Amino acid sequence: MEGVGRDRKRGGYSRHVFEPAERELREWFVEEAERRDLAVRTDRNGNIWAWWGEPGTDAVVTGSHLDSVPGGGAFDGPLGVVSALAAVDALRAQDFTPIRPLAIVVFAEEEGGRFGVPCLGSRLMSGAIDPDVARRLTDPAGITFAEAAAEAGLDPARVGRDDEALAAVHTFVELHVEQGRGLIDLGAPVGVASSILAHGRWRFGFAGEGNHAGATLLGDRRDPMVPAAEMVLAARIAASEVDDGRATVGRIVPNPGGTNVIASTVDVWLDARAGDDASTREIVERVRAMAADAAERENCVLTVVEESYGDTVVFDSELRDQVSRALGGVPALPTGAGHDAGILAAHLSTAMLFVRNPTGISHAPEEFAEADDCQAGVTALATVLERLTG
Ligand code: GLV
Ligand code: MN
Ligand code: MN
Repeated sequence: MEGVGRDRKRGGYSRHVFEPAERELREWFVEEAERRDLAVRTDRNGNIWAWWGEPGTDAVVTGSHLDSVPGGGAFDGPLGVVSALAAVDALRAQDFTPIRPLAIVVFAEEEGGRFGVPCLGSRLMSGAIDPDVARRLTDPAGITFAEAAAEAGLDPARVGRDDEALAAVHTFVELHVEQGRGLIDLGAPVGVASSILAHGRWRFGFAGEGNHAGATLLGDRRDPMVPAAEMVLAARIAASEVDDGRATVGRIVPNPGGTNVIASTVDVWLDARAGDDASTREIVERVRAMAADAAERENCVLTVVEESYGDTVVFDSELRDQVSRALGGVPALPTGAGHDAGILAAHLSTAMLFVRNPTGISHAPEEFAEADDCQAGVTALATVLERLTG
């Protein structure tokens, strides 16, 4: 997979759902699964399933995603998919045959890197997003999710809650590169997840008046970039005032975006996270209040749209303890990153395994995992799958 979707401009990888690089990886996955005699099918929402055993209602499923953030690392997503294939190989090498069906899943658009809503494949499947809303989502080029899905061979009219796919899964275990320094500090190659912060994305649209950068007097301007800039600082202040709060502006789009042009509109995306729903919403409300004040001072209009949201996830403690015990008592860690396992936790028993990341960096090219730790992750995943399906 190494050469697929490299981003020369940003560094790292840009593998966005249904774009050529991500589609190449999907094809790669299908080939790898078929080579292992797994029965492959793509569901109505673009998630790919590879079955070892007949799908029933009590399957144990593992897997992750193949899409990336813009300029992302090599491990976020792919490590879970590759480790799943390698765990199947390891189990077969021991002549193990699962009593319960086992499947590997590749979820679509986990990062929301193209259409803006993270975990879109698992949200659609579990009914966590209205399919009409999903169909209308657009990418930066203005292509709708419905159009992209049709281009990728799906029927956009059929995206949405998939009770059959959901009912087939009893337990989901996602292996993932760790996205922080927890395991480094503990000196452990592998850990289990305990919880995920509440988190969401909000689009702040500032509307002013497009005009000439040289000919427009300062007092005559309605420049939406000015309140947008204040909002970026407001996000940092608001997050710092809330316990374990995090707020990020990683994306700003001015329209039309010319050096000598006062923008007519600026869209600013806020990613806000905290330990619970109330704290997360508190951050957003504080940013909204500061942004509204800044917009008013510049005679601009502010609109705020919530594009996605997920409340705190506490992973099933029984399964977490069972997984940890099977691995001889590995540490449990909370995470600030979102995952399909978090979306599915509302419907079924889910768990996550983390593999140590020596840089502690993620969503950036420096994301890393040593080969020995990746191998420890595969062995751990195989042990857990053996325990759960045997
Ligand atoms: C996905 O990795 C997220 O946490 O945004
Ligand atoms: Mn991920
Ligand atoms: Mn990610």
